Amino acid sequence: KKKIGIITSGGDAPGMNGAVRAVVRAAITKGCTPYAIYEGYQGLIDGGSMMKEMQWEDVRGWLSEGGTLIGTARCAPFRERWGRLTAAKNMILNGIDALIVCGGDGSLTGADLFRSEWPGLLAELVSTGELAPEQIQGYEHLTIVGLVGSIDNDMSSTDATIGAFSSLSRICQSVDFIDATALSHSRAFVVEVMGRHCGWLALMAGIATGADYVFIPEQPPNSEKWGDEMCAIVHAHRKKGKRKTIVIVAEGAIDDQLNPVTAEDVKTLLVKKLGLDTRITTLGHVQRGGSAVAFDRMLSTLQGFDAVDAVLESTPETPSPMIGITENKICRKPLVESVALTKSVATAIKNKDFQKAMALRDTEFEE
Ligand code: F6P
Repeated sequence: KKKIGIITSGGDAPGMNGAVRAVVRAAITKGCTPYAIYEGYQGLIDGGSMMKEMQWEDVRGWLSEGGTLIGTARCAPFRERWGRLTAAKNMILNGIDALIVCGGDGSLTGADLFRSEWPGLLAELVSTGELAPEQIQGYEHLTIVGLVGSIDNDMSSTDATIGAFSSLSRICQSVDFIDATALSHSRAFVVEVMGRHCGWLALMAGIATGADYVFIPEQPPNSEKWGDEMCAIVHAHRKKGKRKTIVIVAEGAIDDQLNPVTAEDVKTLLVKKLGLDTRITTLGHVQRGGSAVAFDRMLSTLQGFDAVDAVLESTPETPSPMIGITENKICRKPLVESVALTKSVATAIKNKDFQKAMALRDTEFEE
């Protein structure tokens, strides 16, 4: 009977509660014991009441709740070996031999590192007398399964991360609100959206709201004349009688020399070159809050169930899987490769190889 820990880690995302609910209930259905680990990896390090056995009714009503009810953190101690040693010890003491981690690429990288170090961590705990040799018997293999929870939709090899569509929805709703006031005053608004180094939220919001122009990290404009095209397009729209202007700027937007393109820069251009009365709206954490849209409830539930199946099917030989979705089907991808691919997109952007970055985002793995 497996004891499965479920962790939410990194920035919260709508749908994380749905994932926890699905894991808890699938685990119980399949005869396993689910444990909620509170406050991300910190809960593994602190142990005790931070690791709680969950019952079916503990997750009642969680599907529609925003954020993550078991807490999350970007846990610095887990990046240190002593932190992972303490986490391993607490897992053994609670009999937990499988972890399902719902988080972004950083959290999933940490998870896989933990798995790769696992036998060594146990050996060290025994050699330092923290655990007796018989305590680690039966725990030689740690099973890790990744669920991608992030509003940024920045993970390669999956079409959607849990939370991205909820955040997109919130952005669209906010832009609709801004539209009304922009139209009334015939103003321009520069709307800054999240996404870290990924332009998915900005681009999709631009399409979904009919924005005049979008700045994203993956397609940076020429540094010498980065605003020319935007101004020409906005000017043309205005000449056709449009009373409002919406420019969406991804928080990670850059020019082709990697200089940031900020909402303030864009505003200055709209004022100076086009004489538009311009305001900036930084949507901030509103984009991350609120309840999950139907897609994220569905995604988190189906993926949470599959994560438990993946735990049960895992062998010491199989690489840690990440549960994704491609072409509308829930799928499993090798976690390490998916994370590495995601990182290579960032590297390509740093090397100003923007075409490569776009191609890498589209790379697929065979299942
Ligand atoms: O990764 C999710 C995200 O919301 C990013 O879009 C954003 O850059 C970052 O987290 C903000 O982090 P924090 O909540 O720590 O300010």
